Amino acid sequence: MTDQIEHIESNVRGYAKLFPTVFDTAIGSTLCDQSGKTFIDFFCGAGTLNYGHNHAGAKEALLRYISRNGIQHSLDTVTTAKIDFLTAFENTILKPRQLDYVVQFTGPTGTNAVEAAIKLAKKRTGRSHIVAFTNAYHGHTLGSLALTGNRYFHNDLYGSHNDVTHLPFDRYLGDFDTSAILAKMLSDSSSGLPLPAAVILETVQGEGGINVASTQWLRKIAELCTANDILLIIDDIQVGNGRTGKFFSFEESGIHPDIVCLSKSIGGGLPMSLVLIRRDDDVWQPGEHTGTFRGNNLAFVAATAVLKHWDDPHFESQIETRSRVIQAWLTETCQRYSSQSFDRRGRGLIWGLDVRCGKLARQIIDRSFDAGLLIEASGADDQVLKLLPALTIEMPLLVEGLNILDRAIAASIQPANSTAANSTVLTPHFPAPAFSGLLSESAASGTTRS
Ligand SMILES: Cc1ncc(COP(=O)(O)O)c(C=O)c1O
Repeated sequence: MTDQIEHIESNVRGYAKLFPTVFDTAIGSTLCDQSGKTFIDFFCGAGTLNYGHNHAGAKEALLRYISRNGIQHSLDTVTTAKIDFLTAFENTILKPRQLDYVVQFTGPTGTNAVEAAIKLAKKRTGRSHIVAFTNAYHGHTLGSLALTGNRYFHNDLYGSHNDVTHLPFDRYLGDFDTSAILAKMLSDSSSGLPLPAAVILETVQGEGGINVASTQWLRKIAELCTANDILLIIDDIQVGNGRTGKFFSFEESGIHPDIVCLSKSIGGGLPMSLVLIRRDDDVWQPGEHTGTFRGNNLAFVAATAVLKHWDDPHFESQIETRSRVIQAWLTETCQRYSSQSFDRRGRGLIWGLDVRCGKLARQIIDRSFDAGLLIEASGADDQVLKLLPALTIEMPLLVEGLNILDRAIAASIQPANSTAANSTVLTPHFPAPAFSGLLSESAASGTTRS
C-alpha cells in the first residue's frame, strides 16, 4: 500500500515519512493504523485537533446535519450553519472577552488567513512593508512565506523576501530587550526600515521551536504599533483555540491586536480559517478578497460543537492541570539530563524539549513512533521535541505518552552518555511520587471528554 503511495504521490510528502504507517481510525487522543497498532497522539495534526479526533459532539452534529441535507458549500452566502457558528463564536468567545471584531472567512488553510491579514493591513494603511520576526512561521503561499523565517523554505526564485523585514523575536538575543530594536528603527529615519503596514507575530512560535514571547515584550510591541499607526497582527493559527490555556494566546498579556488569524482547531477538525478584524479596520469592499472555499459549512457545524467546551467553567483549569503534569515531567527530564543542557519552553499545552541536536530529536521521535507515540520536532534544526497533546487528553494517556517519550530519550542518549546509559533502569516510571498529587487533583476535577 505504501509502495503505491510512493509511486503516485509527490516527493513533497513530509509527515508520511516521519510517521511511516497507514493510519485508519482515530478517537480522542488515540490513532489506530491498518495493522491494528495504536498510537497516543502528542501531535494533534500539527495543532488541528485540540479537542481530539472524532470529537463526539462534532461527530453527532455533523451526522445530523448531513442526514438532513444541510447546505455543504455556500461561498459566502448566509446559511443556518454559518449563523449558528457566528452566534456561538460571538457569545462564547468574543463578548466575554470584550472583543469587538468582525469575522472574515478566508480559504480553508492557515496561510489563507495570513494572506488576507497582510493584504488588509496594506490596504488599510496604504503601506506595503511588514515586520515579521526571526523563527516566524506563517505558511507557504508566497505572501506568508515571505514572513516565514526558516531558510529551508526560501528561494529567491520565489521572490519570497519582498517587502518584509525580520527583526529579532523576544529572547533571540538572550536577555536583551529586542523590542528596543524596533523602537529605535522606527524612530530613526535612516534605519532603512520603511514605516510598516503591520507587525505580525506568534505569541508562542510553534514551528520556530516553541519560543515564548513574554508579556512585557508583547505589550511593548503593541504600544509601538499603536504609537506609529502600525497594525498588530497576531497569528494565533497554531497557539490559539486554547492551546496556551486561554482561548486566545494573547489574553494574558492584555494586548488588543488589530487583526487575529485563526485556523487549525477552530474548525473542530475540519478545514476552516478566519481573520478577526477590528471593526474600524474592516476596509474591504464587497468581494474584494474572495475565493471559492470560504465558509465550509461542515466545519461551521463541527466548530460550533467544539466551542461548547468554552462554556464549561472547568475547561481552562483542566488544561492547566495537564500543563502542570507536562511541566513537572520536563523539569525532571532536564534535571536528569543536565549534562546535555536540555531546555524546556512553553505555555498551556504547547511545550518544547530542546535536545540541542536535530539528529537526536529524530532518533527520539522514531523510537517513540515504534513504541506507539506520535510526536514531532520544530525549531531551526528540528531540535525541539514538540509536545502538543489534545486539550482533552485523558490523564492516563498523557502519562503513558510521557513514559514512552522517557524511554525513547533514555535509549537514544545511551550511546553518547555513559551516565544516562543506565537510565532505562534508573528512570522512575512517571508519575514519580512528587507528581501523583497533580494526578489525583485532576481526577477530582473530572475530565472534559470529547
Ligand atoms: C502560526 C502558523 N501560521 C500559519 C500556518 C500555516 O497554516 P497552514 O499550514 O494551514 O497553511 C501555520 C501552520 O503550521 C502556523 O503554525
